Amino acid sequence: MPRVRFASLAKVAECRVGETIFDAGGKVSAGIETACVGKGTCGLCRVKILAGNDALTPYTDEEFRHLGNVFHITQVRLACRARIVAEPGTSPSAPGSDPAVAEIVVEPTPKRAKKTAARPG
Ligand code: FES
Repeated sequence: MPRVRFASLAKVAECRVGETIFDAGGKVSAGIETACVGKGTCGLCRVKILAGNDALTPYTDEEFRHLGNVFHITQVRLACRARIVAEPGTSPSAPGSDPAVAEIVVEPTPKRAKKTAARPG
């Protein structure tokens, strides 16, 4: 059973093939931002893929629209478009597939840094 670990939150979701990173986040209350609730239209559900990208569906048109063509640099995807297709490290067709990777590791990445109000005095 594929596992998705939310690195800085120290939370792990047990998932099934076919579920998305967004689904995994919902299982463990990972706090992935959303306005469209998984429809691929808001672009808020950004996660950085730290390991296990070979176990996910390829980058989608919605991701190109919201994130551009820079995945190879940022490793950021839309959680609702990144669907689990295999156990991590087992995809023989994925270039760079690493059998040592036992789980998908992600980090929620907010679209914008939250601004905090300066306190007077
Ligand atoms: S939840 Fe809106 S694009 Fe993923």
